[in-house]
Amino acid sequence: MSRENILLKIDDLKLYYHTTAGYVRAVDGVSLDVAVGERLGLVGESGCGKTTLMKAILRLLPANCRQMGGEMYYKGKAISLLSEKEIQKLRWQEISMIPQSAMNALDPVYRIGAQIKEAMKAHQKGIGSKEAQERAADIFELVGINPKRLRDYPHQFSGGMKQRAAIAMALVLNPNLIIADEPTTALDVIVQAQILERINALQQSYSGSLIMITHDISVIAQTCEKVAVMYAGKIMEYGTVRNVLNNPLHPYTLGLKNAFPSLLGEKKALISIPGSPPDLIKPQPGCLFAPRCPFAIAVCKTEDPPAKEKDGRVVACHRLAEMEGLKVLAEDETIWERKVHACD
Ligand SMILES: Nc1ncnc2c1ncn2[C@@H]1O[C@H](COP(=O)(O)OP(=O)(O)OP(=O)(O)O)[C@@H](O)[C@H]1O
Ligand SMILES: [Mg+2]
Repeated sequence: MSRENILLKIDDLKLYYHTTAGYVRAVDGVSLDVAVGERLGLVGESGCGKTTLMKAILRLLPANCRQMGGEMYYKGKAISLLSEKEIQKLRWQEISMIPQSAMNALDPVYRIGAQIKEAMKAHQKGIGSKEAQERAADIFELVGINPKRLRDYPHQFSGGMKQRAAIAMALVLNPNLIIADEPTTALDVIVQAQILERINALQQSYSGSLIMITHDISVIAQTCEKVAVMYAGKIMEYGTVRNVLNNPLHPYTLGLKNAFPSLLGEKKALISIPGSPPDLIKPQPGCLFAPRCPFAIAVCKTEDPPAKEKDGRVVACHRLAEMEGLKVLAEDETIWERKVHACD
């Protein structure tokens, strides 16, 4: 799909962790892009490579993680070719990340306001103390915390407030792209709803782009217009939220959707996907979802499914052409259970 105004482009990216047991293929041939002002959700089970993919953009991965292929481009420039100084400039000012468990990211020994001001001064040359103080106060108001609390230490904040403070830090330099890694996972549903509302409102007022990482598709439905469904280091289905979540065409997306309460509020039993994701050190041939997929046939176990375009989205499934017919069967819980027992 060719699109204009692409801010971030990820092209066939491969990121492997080097371990004594072998390479962990955490990200294995991922292609995605994010246009200016666009909100992309990245969803998938724990361990499927979401955080690894996002950390790579800001070169925040540990030394044992290597880029084995592909490239990432920010405003058309290859990220792997940027110098350390250029990457430093990109962080915060252009792209900022609300890290997974952001509430632990604050330094316990400094007042929160001092941490936000330091970050501003470090990344935006020429900003004075007074201006930094005013900007910190404004951004606290935006995330719904009284600016007086800038004088507090992290331990004086509740979990939800720490999370908002981390969001404030990520937004304070008006970045072009915000990457939010599970920003609400550890929070209760009321605070979660408030924070998602804040992120939505802020993203719209800044007209910046957003990548929202989560394992919860209802969070994506509330915050994004595009979604990429990731499984075992690969993208299974990628397109608009309307197409992908309302009318999934990959068996894994169908399974994920079955496992969450209906987005439209209709009552139906939740069906989880039996089994667990594959070991990323021992790659199996064929589609990595095949061992759990109720629709897998012989070719799925031997050949990697190519990504194909259909109805405004990209899907990696050998049986894409038949999926409209097959998907009705996915609503039957027993078809998923039978599959896993057949593999035992
Ligand atoms: N430092 C590391 N060394 C070796 N393997 C790693 C390392 N960090 C992560 N991994 C492995 O890489 C894979 C992807 O991990 P990652 O943290 O990107 O997943 P995730 O989708 O963000 O999961 P979660 O939803 O639990 O946050 C996992 O199999 C994980 O065990
Ligand atoms: Mg993660």
